Amino acid sequence: MDEHEHSPPQPDRRSYLTKVAAIAVGGIIAVVAPVAGFLTFLDPLRRKADARGMVRVSSLGALPKNGEPRKLPVLDVLVDAWNRTPDVPIGAVYVQKTGPRTVRVLNAVCPHLGCSVGYSAAKSGYFCPCHQSSFSLDGKILDPKSPSPRAMDELEAEVRANGEVWVKFQNFRKGSSDKIPV
Ligand code: FES
Repeated sequence: MDEHEHSPPQPDRRSYLTKVAAIAVGGIIAVVAPVAGFLTFLDPLRRKADARGMVRVSSLGALPKNGEPRKLPVLDVLVDAWNRTPDVPIGAVYVQKTGPRTVRVLNAVCPHLGCSVGYSAAKSGYFCPCHQSSFSLDGKILDPKSPSPRAMDELEAEVRANGEVWVKFQNFRKGSSDKIPV
């Protein structure tokens, strides 16, 4: 009788190693992909104000090339006597690419009474739903009947060498024809 006839089947070593490698690679992908996705999702939340009070809101490459504005949240660190809370939303801005390395940034709040201004691609401008103020893309009052006493508030902004867009976020007094920081 052949001595191998009743011996238990030997595992194929190569196939075993292939399975182990596949499980290991699958495990790495299963861990890395969600973490990378989560960090991408949280990207806006990782922004921090710098020493000049400027906050990174976008990269130039992420803005529409056709000059359409993009509405972005502004996040900062809030500190009180006991707590330091990072990544707190403090406002929103419209960021518009105006040239190869230039942007226009407008506070997304209406200067009339503080409603959130919307953007209309069809009208190529901004519109406040509360009392129908309308503004052109550069933030100026479009319809003279608009109750807003001034144009939308443009903010100091810069495009840094690495292509990041940084904004000095400020709010201004509502209902005033003068742009008074609050
Ligand atoms: S709050 Fe925008 S028009 Fe009144």
